[in-house]
Order: sequence, then C-alpha cells, then structure tokens
Amino acid sequence: MHKKLSESEPYPPSEDTFFLADYIKNEKGECALDIGTGSGYLAALLEKSFSLVVATDLVFNVLKKHEYFTTNNVCCNGADAINQQFDLVICNMPYLNTDDVSDVRTDGGKDGLEIPIKIIDSAKSQIKPGGKFVYVTSSLSDFKKLISYTKLEGFDVSILAKKKLFFEELILVKAVKLLP
Ligand SMILES: C[S@@+](CC[C@H](N)C(=O)[O-])C[C@H]1O[C@@H](n2cnc3c(N)ncnc32)[C@H](O)[C@@H]1O
Repeated sequence: MHKKLSESEPYPPSEDTFFLADYIKNEKGECALDIGTGSGYLAALLEKSFSLVVATDLVFNVLKKHEYFTTNNVCCNGADAINQQFDLVICNMPYLNTDDVSDVRTDGGKDGLEIPIKIIDSAKSQIKPGGKFVYVTSSLSDFKKLISYTKLEGFDVSILAKKKLFFEELILVKAVKLLP
C-alpha cells in the first residue's frame, strides 16, 4: 500500500488495486458497488460486466478528480447514502494499523480495523442475500479479527487468495451474505 501520497490526490491504482481487479474481471451480474473508489479504476472495470455500477468515496475531491470515468459516483461513508441492494460489493480497504486516521486513503485506525469495520457496518444491508462482499486486507492489520467480525455480521467468509509483497501479505476475502 502506498503511504507517501499527496493529500489531495486520489489513491493511484497499486498492487492491492490490481489484486482485487484480477478477481473482479471474471465477475458479472446486474448491480455492483465499489466502496472507496479512489481513482475509479475498479468501478470502471466493473462497468464492463455489470448493468449498474455505483462508486462511493468519503472524499469529494477524490471523486471530482476521478482518473477513470464512471457514471454513478456518490460521496459518503461506505454505502450510507445508497438505498439499493447489490449482487457484488467490493472494497480495497484502508487497512494500515495507525494510532489515528490522518490519511483516509490508507489509514485503518487501531489494528487497521476501525475503518474496515465502519465500512462493513455500512455495506452489510446493501448486499442481496447470496450476494458477495469482496475486500482486500493485509497482514499489516489484524485481518483474522476482521474476518471473525465479518462472520458475526452474517456472512460465510473465505480467503480467496494471498499475495506476498516485500513488506506485507495482501489478503483477498470473499464474504457471502447469508441473512436477508
Ligand atoms: C486504499 S484506497 C483504494 C482506492 C481504489 N479503490 C483502489 O483500489 O485503487 C481507499 C479509498 O477509500 C476511501 N475511503 C476511506 N474511508 C472511507 C469510508 N469510510 N467510506 C468511503 N470511502 C472511504 C479513500 O478516500 C480511498 O479513496
């Protein structure tokens, strides 16, 4: 994960972006949501195979500077402003273990969990029963705790893939929603 970024710039497509992209390029369906869309790279990819794609980001300037054009962009926390259930929700989580959240693009808060938990809480009611939430986390966070939390929130959870980088291991998690 990039830590040295200029504050006003969207998170550039990076190893973790491409890791998630590798999975979603094979997915298709009716509607999909990209939470924390950043440059819009993943939402633009989803638009190739889903009829409706919505992208959210907490930072309005990030959405304005979208490098990859996408149609439906909403500035909000997680999926808070969205009233729609999706077949697929994705998120490349801000997962760094940080004392506070000074850079929303990368910082996850304590144990790298505070922001990911906020995003899961916001997204869970916007996923169809049987629908999927696929997210990227990392060995730099307490990812086992995040997986346990996701299970408790009513998902069947599995690890789809891991990828070793020099300083961390990326983890791609699939959570299938069990309850309506
Ligand atoms: C690691 S970047 C990923 C960007 C892009 N999806 C990618 O894969 O390249 C995380 C993104 O989530 C956004 N973000 C952070 N907290 C958020 C929240 N609570 N709700 C929505 N977006 C959030 C950040 O502004 C940032 O654009």
